[in-house]
Amino acid sequence: MKRKAEPFKIKMVEPLRMISREEREKALIASGYNLFTLKSDDVYIDLLTDSGTGAMSDQQWAGMMLGDEAYAGSRNFYHLRDAVRDIIGYPFVIPTHQGRGAEQVLFPLVVKPGQHVISNWHFDTTRAHVDFAGGKAIDVVTKEAFDTTTPYPFKGNFDLVKLERTILEKGSENIGMIIITITNNSAGGQPVSMENMREVVRIAKKYQIFTVIDAARFAENAYFIKRREAGYENHTIKDIIREMFSYADALTMSAKKDALVNIGGMIAFADHQVDLFEQAQSMVVPFEGFPTYGGLAGRDMEALARGLYEGIDEQYLDYRIHQVEYLGARLMEGGVPIQFPTGGHAVFVDAKKLLPHIPSSQFPAQVLANELYVETGVRSVEIGSLLMGRDAQTGEQLASPLELLRLTIPRRVYTYNHMDVIADGLIAVKNRASRLKGLTFEYEPKVLRHFTAKLKPIE
Ligand code: F0G
Repeated sequence: MKRKAEPFKIKMVEPLRMISREEREKALIASGYNLFTLKSDDVYIDLLTDSGTGAMSDQQWAGMMLGDEAYAGSRNFYHLRDAVRDIIGYPFVIPTHQGRGAEQVLFPLVVKPGQHVISNWHFDTTRAHVDFAGGKAIDVVTKEAFDTTTPYPFKGNFDLVKLERTILEKGSENIGMIIITITNNSAGGQPVSMENMREVVRIAKKYQIFTVIDAARFAENAYFIKRREAGYENHTIKDIIREMFSYADALTMSAKKDALVNIGGMIAFADHQVDLFEQAQSMVVPFEGFPTYGGLAGRDMEALARGLYEGIDEQYLDYRIHQVEYLGARLMEGGVPIQFPTGGHAVFVDAKKLLPHIPSSQFPAQVLANELYVETGVRSVEIGSLLMGRDAQTGEQLASPLELLRLTIPRRVYTYNHMDVIADGLIAVKNRASRLKGLTFEYEPKVLRHFTAKLKPIE
């Protein structure tokens, strides 16, 4: 696959540190075979997440100097509000420090204890905030998401039959809200089609259920609609974004992804949601801050207002999605099985297929992540049974339907040469895959165990 030239030039550089293979082996042992506890100085290429790891532009940095640090009514808040009105079409905007801050404020206002919340796939913190609000999270993603090898343009979609069946089974009065996650992170950064969103909202309206868009990667989703969905090829990215949000009642956004900032988030409401907006304005004060800053400095809001425009630029999105696709193509050429087609923000490697001799209880994707780190200093992240944890009632280790290794690509940070280093490293690991050994716990924390667990190889 041909490379595409970056639509920017580089004004400032950050040196990378590459320690030796022996040092990496030592660092891995010291980390308890858990890449979360590595020092980032010991990492050469960091693909742990695309969240808050992007590079800001000169325009954004210039905006940082124009921060109005007023406690109330900062001018940068109005710039942010106007950008959201212009791009998304929602008039009511409340900044938050990041995505989970938005979830924490909004969900208790919408979900009553004991109600169910349905999503194509809840992100971890989203699921946690549904729990905290007393709700129960149910995922109803389309079955194509679990078939990594068959191409399908919208693997992020809702299973509409399952969605309606779930509403009828639980009773519509027991559904607190529907969350449309775009793109679907956990399924592999896979997009949701406009048609699917329209149908989800038609069903929601039929049963009078509130819909919120988890908008972390909204621009990448719009880009995929333009490229893959019939009837949208001549629409602008902005028109597609406007239409996506026109169907829902509100959004929560982690601005650390598509809005190209290192910190930030927001809640925003459609014009018919003024009552809920007013309630959220009261709720945000004790959790995040006054409603015109919500946990952000004025300068952060300015960078975010500018980042929203840069993140929907079609030339930028072309390069962004292509870089991820290029890495996926290189891996496939080298015989590494991945979720195909590649998603927006990451390549997801199918560790179950690559390491069939390692059962899910021995965390094949973590084995792969560790080996890739030793091979080339690349830090990736397990999205599988280690992340999933145990059944809360029985304590039994749950087997995740997919064992994935996520190679998450920060925005505007690494070049195509780095993609080659990653691909070469993983292909080398693939060639000795059959000799790799599973992992077991040395120390297993009770909650969110994957962040601090200590593991060891099974001899
Ligand atoms: N929703 C989605 C779909 C996300 O991917 C994330 C974060 C959040 C909400 C929470 O936002 O981090 O700003 O509080 N995802 C990151 C990741 C952490 O690595 O996928 P946040």
